[in-house]
Amino acid sequence: MTQLPTLDQVDLTQKTVLVRLDLNLPFQDQQVSDDTRIRRSLKTLTYLLDHQCKVVILSHRGRPKGIPNADLSLEPITHLLPNYLDCPVFFAPDCIGSVADKTIRSAPYGSIIMLENLRFHSEEEANDPDFAQQLAALGDLYVNDAFSCSHRAHASVVALAKYLPAVVGFGMQEELSALNAVLSHPKRPLMAIVGGSKVSTKLELLRNLINTVDYLVLGGGMANTFLLAQGQDIGESLAEADLTETALAILQQADAQGCRIILPVDFQSPTDTLKIMDIGLKTTGLIQSALEHCQTLVWNGPVGVFEIPPYDQGSIAIAQHAAHLTQNGKLISVAGGGDTLACLNKAHVANQFTYTSTAGGAFLEWLEGKELPGVSALS
Ligand code: 3PG
Repeated sequence: MTQLPTLDQVDLTQKTVLVRLDLNLPFQDQQVSDDTRIRRSLKTLTYLLDHQCKVVILSHRGRPKGIPNADLSLEPITHLLPNYLDCPVFFAPDCIGSVADKTIRSAPYGSIIMLENLRFHSEEEANDPDFAQQLAALGDLYVNDAFSCSHRAHASVVALAKYLPAVVGFGMQEELSALNAVLSHPKRPLMAIVGGSKVSTKLELLRNLINTVDYLVLGGGMANTFLLAQGQDIGESLAEADLTETALAILQQADAQGCRIILPVDFQSPTDTLKIMDIGLKTTGLIQSALEHCQTLVWNGPVGVFEIPPYDQGSIAIAQHAAHLTQNGKLISVAGGGDTLACLNKAHVANQFTYTSTAGGAFLEWLEGKELPGVSALS
């Protein structure tokens, strides 16, 4: 990885610092259901506050498509910040223009100013240079601490980095080194577990992983397409029949590359119809013993329909085994994506993995071997 300019390399005296965070937090019954993204931003925020900066937070929430929408305001999230940080906190009901400018000017150094949802302006997603310049006019320095948004070529992620000195924040720096340690210089054997419902959305991912990993475990609905391609009876299970040729080509390519693919050999299904909902006990055992030969694991996507018990058992058993190996110093384990983390939480082992990434799309694109525009913009 190219070395990115970091926050500890810049002079912060009397600086107004624009920090791009991902405060697109999950909500349930109008309450934040997981605050990991806030907690991961605290190192950067505390550092800037300790240096008496004015800290201006930029974020999006949801997909309002350029139209202001009170349900997607960042104001409720602003009210949560005093639970984590001991400093004055202000909110500006727009992210550009005189409202934002005045709020920032009147705030004291050593305070936080949260700007309203960037995506209330369509120019954000269009990576519009004028919009980026209007954001840049509000501060002296730009910090990207939102790895989970860095796959988006949006104004606050890409264009803005052109108009201000730009550095990576501590949270994103930590995330990049954890992820790079796994795929760039992994301790081998390296296993990837890929679940999820469709092969079609993960084709590039599978092609990249075959070239990189020693074991590739396929689970979830996507494994059914491979079983179908091998001529197995999958009954009414979810599968993409038009992709069986592609699935066979992937299996052949994996074989040629020396990558061992592990597919389900048994499964859990409702009793009245054959519908694969989770891996079975034999498969779970197979994956667990392969894991014992591995030194590194990267995981995206549960291996069953984990949101419907008892079809969460396979994913939970694997998560717990991986956590156990990690805690005993035998495995480096990295998991990412919303569903995968929800599954680790269900198994009560989220804090027993080496690293968990809150990024969804960005984690996948990174696994696919793609350059992330938000990372390139800093280098
Ligand atoms: C996420 O939750 O993965 C990020 O906030 C990115 O959101 P997006 O997919 O709407 O760009």
